[in-house]
Amino acid sequence: MSSMYERCCKVMPEVANRATKLGIVDSEGCYVYTEDNRKVLDFASGVAVNNLGAKNQEVVDAIKNQLDTMIHVGHNVVYNESYVALAEKLVELTGGDTKVYFSNSGAEANDGAMKLAKYVTKRPAVIAFRNSFHGRTIGSLSVTGSSSSYRKNYEPLMPSVYWADYANCHKCPFGKKENCCGMECLKQFDSIFAKMIDPESVAAIIVEPVQGEGGYIPPKKEFLKGLREICDKYGIMLIFDEVQTGIGRTGEIYAFQTYDVKPDILTSAKALGGGIPLSAIIAKKEIMDKWPSGAHGGTFGGNPLACAAGLKTLEIIERDNILDNVKKQGEYMRKRLNELQEKYSGRISDVRGVGLMNAMELVTKDGAPDEKLTSAIKTKALEKNLLLLTCGSDHNVVRFITPLTVTQEEIDIAISIIDDVMKELV
Ligand SMILES: Cc1ncc(COP(=O)(O)O)c(C=O)c1O
Repeated sequence: MSSMYERCCKVMPEVANRATKLGIVDSEGCYVYTEDNRKVLDFASGVAVNNLGAKNQEVVDAIKNQLDTMIHVGHNVVYNESYVALAEKLVELTGGDTKVYFSNSGAEANDGAMKLAKYVTKRPAVIAFRNSFHGRTIGSLSVTGSSSSYRKNYEPLMPSVYWADYANCHKCPFGKKENCCGMECLKQFDSIFAKMIDPESVAAIIVEPVQGEGGYIPPKKEFLKGLREICDKYGIMLIFDEVQTGIGRTGEIYAFQTYDVKPDILTSAKALGGGIPLSAIIAKKEIMDKWPSGAHGGTFGGNPLACAAGLKTLEIIERDNILDNVKKQGEYMRKRLNELQEKYSGRISDVRGVGLMNAMELVTKDGAPDEKLTSAIKTKALEKNLLLLTCGSDHNVVRFITPLTVTQEEIDIAISIIDDVMKELV
């Protein structure tokens, strides 16, 4: 009998870059079960979607209850309770002075956010960051700067995109040392505005509050605060792409709360729909009120099943104080990773993260990015039933995207597997 992977190869193109060959038949908590009877500890969470695991029973029940009433009705046509209630909840969670527009994917939300910024400011340009990831549609791809392979053969993309360097203190793009710099990551905007694009032509700066795909890089708070000030000074919309950081990942519902810097427009997706495709553009009321009927749209946005699942997910996160677990286990995870870094000093060059968005960076004995070791750790860990993903524009970062419900015991199991793997490999 062929595996799902083998069957898949016959009928699907290889264009979707898949991290494993696992065929999954069931799940429970932080574990997934495979067609060949393996129980695998899942520290990928469907790429930051399964914040309560791949099968939270209460979320399943909420979807089933919704299913008994309708599957789809269409937000261009009518209203439904889950759709309105989730928007109300998101407004409450983002300070009460916002409005919400639903769509289906992170990329679609980012496209919509840039359209909103352009519509409201009537300006053409967007500034994005090198090593960013915002999605695969032409719009979102145009502001994605983490791999030329994503862009190859798709040029020309959306025009008037300008690039800035992200605040990566571990590998400062300006060659500075952490805490001994003049915040060149903010000063670069003087030069961008003087030499490349007048600030009054810039509609938006789009930024991940913690860079994800680019290497799980939490910036200094001053960086995001500085971006806020620049945007305020020039009437530019600050867009936070919270597709990966949202729904509790950094220890608050959104990373803007973790960093205490409020964007004008925020995009949310991945875990927002409790595992069902759903995304949202959440923006200040006065901005949303300048987006008239018909200026944006879509058939499936705010699907009732997705909204019911999202509502239940948020309810559980609140009721069970899951954000406390994110902070506690996140700290524990970094402590255990720091121990590994001490043990394998020279090969783990950095351990970093915020909440349960954590990573370790791997280098060769000479200090160069070690893509081979990174990939081998992922492969060997999976042989020992730990599912990990990598990231980083140099492909040398292992990231740990646990469900937010992860326990200390599960972190210990993962660390012990990584320790065994490192012993074998270095
Ligand atoms: C920060 C960020 N933005 C946008 C996206 C794109 O989301 P989607 O794959 O739902 O289009 C991703 C996906 O990984 C992401 O991490």
